[in-house]
Amino acid sequence: MNHFDYRDGELFAEDVPVRAIVEAVGTPVYIYASATLTRHFEVMREAAPPGALIAYSVKANGNLSVLRTLAALGAGADIVSEGELRRALAAGIPGQKIVFSGVGKTASELDAALSAQIYQFNVESEGELRLLSQVANGRGRTAPVALRVNPDIDAQTHAKITTGTAESKFGVAWADAERLYALAKDLPGIDACGVDIHIGSQITDLRPLDLAIEKAAGLVRTLRAQGHKITRLDVGGGLGVPYMLDEEPPPLPSAYAKILAGHTRDLDVHVILEPGRLIVANAGILVSRVTYIKEGGPRPFMILDAGMNDLLRPALYDAWHDIKAVRPDGELTAYDVVGPVCESADIFAKDRELPASKAGDLMAILTAGAYGAVQGSSYNARPLTPEVLVKGRQFSVVRRRPTFDEMMQLETWAEWLKPL
Ligand SMILES: Cc1ncc(COP(=O)(O)O)c(C=O)c1O
Repeated sequence: MNHFDYRDGELFAEDVPVRAIVEAVGTPVYIYASATLTRHFEVMREAAPPGALIAYSVKANGNLSVLRTLAALGAGADIVSEGELRRALAAGIPGQKIVFSGVGKTASELDAALSAQIYQFNVESEGELRLLSQVANGRGRTAPVALRVNPDIDAQTHAKITTGTAESKFGVAWADAERLYALAKDLPGIDACGVDIHIGSQITDLRPLDLAIEKAAGLVRTLRAQGHKITRLDVGGGLGVPYMLDEEPPPLPSAYAKILAGHTRDLDVHVILEPGRLIVANAGILVSRVTYIKEGGPRPFMILDAGMNDLLRPALYDAWHDIKAVRPDGELTAYDVVGPVCESADIFAKDRELPASKAGDLMAILTAGAYGAVQGSSYNARPLTPEVLVKGRQFSVVRRRPTFDEMMQLETWAEWLKPL
């Protein structure tokens, strides 16, 4: 479900012609639809157990206006760094709705999160547990902790976004969990009150999620039997979204919710969910202008002004994104759609049928709202992509394109080099 549709042969974002945004902002540009963000958050809330905390995973899209849109709907945040903590707080998400995941939290990050009085630390190692104990105890505080346990379940997704197998760096080994809860009980400044899992992303088969939640619920019971007061179960994120318009859609959040309810109904826990992609992926497109059509290869190259620095997913995960012409009118023609970056991996699509196009035409890369702008870089000294948020007939530039001078401003001449 999204709010990017054609009207009179032209692509609109909600009620705004994409062309109008491009005229104001230029290309490449990310465009987000508030209506899709809202709709997906509401779908998730309706599906989740009553009272569940929906901690939107900031890593998927941390734009402040996106966060504020979700905060206004009641979203919490799943964060993985102090930067994301600051963003969530700045967008109006209260500390009491924030959970902190990640394998490498530093002492200063733990300290910042303690200051913000966040809801939960999802602790991923014994080292982190001991460090958090030191930091919290030193401040005279008690940190609410869920241990992220690794259920050793293959999420059946791309290897680079699977996180719940024994091989993966995430979470504590299943076999270590009981020992670590016992340790946590003895550590000052720690209240181990939850169990946390997250087995991967873009999951399109519910069975691994079913198994993982069942395992986690079983651990809650085991720990309680050992005298631990476990009151929370964080089931992570991971639900997949449709990237191809004509593929079989991934399971609905309602089907997932049924499974979740089945495992938690009698468990008496506060359920926490950490959806990212599901909320934002289809709420965003990346719009780019064709710079050249280059003939000569087996197929013509469509060279865009967006590259892998703007949207890394195809290069990083071999990800498929649908591409549409903003004003389609030519015969279908097969292209290799590429960016301008000096890397052979800078390819958005190979042998893709698109309306015959010429330099200057606008193309929209769909389902780009999650893990898009956040993974952007200025490789090849290309400015970070601006971001625009649409709401009905309005649009607003919510991150502008930096100037080249701004991009150089963080650098200083080495003392032994004379300024020009
Ligand atoms: C700990 C954690 N929670 C939640 C998410 C969000 O996952 P997704 O965007 O697939 O919902 C991630 C991303 O992989 C994650 O690492």
